[in-house]
Amino acid sequence: MNLLIIAIWLMLPAYLPNNLAVLFGGGKPLDFGKTFRDGRRILGDGKTFRGTIAGALGGMGAGLLLSAVASTWPDRGLPQFGSGDELLMVLMGLSLGAMAGDVIASFFKRRMGMERGASLFLVDQLDFVLGSWALTYLLAPRWFSQNFTPEIILIVLIITPILHRATNVIGYKIKAKKEPW
Ligand code: CTP
Ligand code: MG
Repeated sequence: MNLLIIAIWLMLPAYLPNNLAVLFGGGKPLDFGKTFRDGRRILGDGKTFRGTIAGALGGMGAGLLLSAVASTWPDRGLPQFGSGDELLMVLMGLSLGAMAGDVIASFFKRRMGMERGASLFLVDQLDFVLGSWALTYLLAPRWFSQNFTPEIILIVLIITPILHRATNVIGYKIKAKKEPW
């Protein structure tokens, strides 16, 4: 199977949460509107309970579907997201990790004095990738190193900013997103 397809496949449970958060986000912010000791918002209105929960659960649900597809057609060589207990750890790592990476980045954006929605090059594009890799490595280290080989990691680092930009421009055009980044 083509390495590019494998890379996208492996990252789908980490890519989907952001898009789902944009579509389903809104309502009570994760920081309850509270400010940090620097007087700025802890996270800001762009990180909400609805978006985070929809993103994490939706990404995991999609991962379960992909797993079922991969095991239905084993000859296609599509990678599995682990089996048994590992499956849950891997999907939680990829999806919840992606949401967590994005939330942590917002914390630092606010500390840098950036308003909600301001763009921070490379951080906006890769925060969720690093978050998903870190949590997956913690929860399922063996699966992570077997699947995220150096080649796959390199491909993901190259294609993610491009895919991210493309989906955000679409999100902006359909008015789901306030800014095209
Ligand atoms: N969103 C959400 N909950 C999250 C992540 C995203 O509700 N955990 C929704 C919000 O409506 C948010 C939109 O998805 O405005 C776009 O996400 P993102 O670009 O990450 O947030 P920004 O609004 O740009 O805020 P920040 O500057 O903190 O990144
Ligand atoms: Mg943003």
